Amino acid sequence: MAIERTLSIIKPDATRRNLTGQINAALEGSGLRIVAQKRVRLNAAQAEAFYVVHKDRPFYRGLVEFMSSGPVVVQVLEGENAVARNREVMGATDPKKAASGTIRARFAEDIEANSVHGSDSAENAAAEIAFFFSAFEIPG
Ligand code: CMP
Repeated sequence: MAIERTLSIIKPDATRRNLTGQINAALEGSGLRIVAQKRVRLNAAQAEAFYVVHKDRPFYRGLVEFMSSGPVVVQVLEGENAVARNREVMGATDPKKAASGTIRARFAEDIEANSVHGSDSAENAAAEIAFFFSAFEIPG
């Protein structure tokens, strides 16, 4: 199986509730390795740029406001099929639909404040990792 990397974000609702450690334990417990990590606060322009693919969606403004409302932890995860593995561990976007035991089922507040983000393809993972990290920040 392919060793991949994916971008993960622990969102403001989760950092506010001091859940970084529990989320990291779930990620590591699933076999994913956190090979880079930093805690940052996005401004509105940065949140807009990161989620530009959603710019025409009705939830875009609220999403930008939420993602810039507090600190986030951005992470590069590495492992076998890391993109799909991380999406399994996160659970569905809407916590009401997320399988029990997943991060979103355990911690998300609602479909917007859903505790974590994970890249949805290897191609988007590469772009999202480059959005937040330079090569020397990812020691592997
Ligand atoms: P994420 O995986 O970061 O990708 C896009 C984000 O938009 C998603 O998680 C949610 O936080 C948010 N989102 C998606 N759908 C909705 C929705 N219907 N209403 C509000 N926010 C949404």
